[in-house]
Amino acid sequence: MGEFVTKTATTGDAEAIARIYNEGIEDGLATFETEARSGADMARWLEAGFPLVVVEDGGAVVAWASAPPYRPARAAYAGVADFSVYVARDARGRGAGRLAVEALVAECESRGYWKLVSRIFPENVASLALCRSLGFREVGVYRRHAKLRGEWKDTVIVELLIGEARA
Ligand SMILES: CC(C)(COP(=O)(O)OP(=O)(O)OC[C@H]1O[C@@H](n2cnc3c(N)ncnc32)[C@H](O)[C@@H]1OP(=O)(O)O)[C@@H](O)C(=O)NCCC(=O)NCCS
Repeated sequence: MGEFVTKTATTGDAEAIARIYNEGIEDGLATFETEARSGADMARWLEAGFPLVVVEDGGAVVAWASAPPYRPARAAYAGVADFSVYVARDARGRGAGRLAVEALVAECESRGYWKLVSRIFPENVASLALCRSLGFREVGVYRRHAKLRGEWKDTVIVELLIGEARA
């Protein structure tokens, strides 16, 4: 186990990003996504060009955070991103998630973004704790926002003002 290093993701990271994402999808606590993703899917994310950072431990990717557009059809929202963060199961609880989001915020600020938003299942205590610790505000709760594997799920809406909006 080495020191964590953060960097902008590259195509060579696509397989590891998919593997870590699929662990989070399987856990059923992180996302409404239910289909496993491939490295090729993640390579398409990289081609799309939105902020995507990884955390490495001893040269291996153990976490990633992404900031795809919040509502791409609406130009006024160009600086708002719908962020996600995923840490490999065996690397959780050691600060990699925090580092990934801090690196993502730095990358987004350098590109002129002003807000990160997300929705978190109320039972995802790790994600809520991470966001609270990073200064995200809990905006409210969407009741019965959608079904995951047949069950209604609420989601906690979170936001973090960054860059120009933070000042
Ligand atoms: C949520 C997740 C990204 C957190 O990353 P992590 O590397 O495990 O978290 P960190 O070690 O960086 O901890 C960050 C903070 O959250 C707290 N935390 C982490 N896991 C926790 C847990 N299971 N219960 C309570 N608090 C927890 C830490 O104590 C820390 O707080 P502090 O900064 O006040 O000390 C990670 O658990 C994960 O990948 N989960 C599955 C995917 C997921 O749910 N992603 C979020 C989708 S919205």
